[in-house]
Amino acid sequence: MIINLNNEHINDIFLIEKDCFFEPKSKKMIENEINNKIYTFLGYKINQKIVAYLNYSVVLDEVNIGNIGVLKEYRNKKIASKLLEKLICDNAFCDIFLEVRESNLPAINLYKKFKFKQIATRKNYYKNPSENAVIFKKEKNI
Ligand SMILES: CC(C)(COP(=O)(O)OP(=O)(O)OC[C@H]1O[C@@H](n2cnc3c(N)ncnc32)[C@H](O)[C@@H]1OP(=O)(O)O)[C@@H](O)C(=O)NCCC(=O)NCCS
Repeated sequence: MIINLNNEHINDIFLIEKDCFFEPKSKKMIENEINNKIYTFLGYKINQKIVAYLNYSVVLDEVNIGNIGVLKEYRNKKIASKLLEKLICDNAFCDIFLEVRESNLPAINLYKKFKFKQIATRKNYYKNPSENAVIFKKEKNI
């Protein structure tokens, strides 16, 4: 079940960050973002447990996806797909952008499945380890 996350879910998001990313966000960073009106945080809940989250910002008719992460033991169950479907459905009038490490094939495959197109590369955009970012865009439906 997809829910909107708020201040009460900072710890859940932090646990997902730690499970998913080389450099997880601190609780303070998560708190700042979740209280910033331009961000939306969607969570996926199974039996009272938040097992995945997706956050994005909206400015005019542009959406930028910040992060999407699914706890390891819940992957390959189409949970990320459901979160992305909701984002796309709720923002049909927006272009959607995101960036991803070029070695992150699970994520790249996910975005290609949803018809995101690669539009640019940013050299050595990521640190620890240094890596290029690939920028993807999905054009608005209308
Ligand atoms: C990327 C991630 C969010 C995918 O979540 P998920 O819930 O397992 O994904 P889904 O089950 O919805 O898979 C949808 C599609 O993604 C792709 N995909 C997902 N996992 C994959 C894997 N391990 N290898 C290759 N492709 C994969 C496939 O195209 C899949 O479609 P298919 O099952 O029909 O082949 C998850 O692996 C994750 O949290 N990774 C760590 C965090 C991260 O890298 N986030 C992206 C930052 S930009």
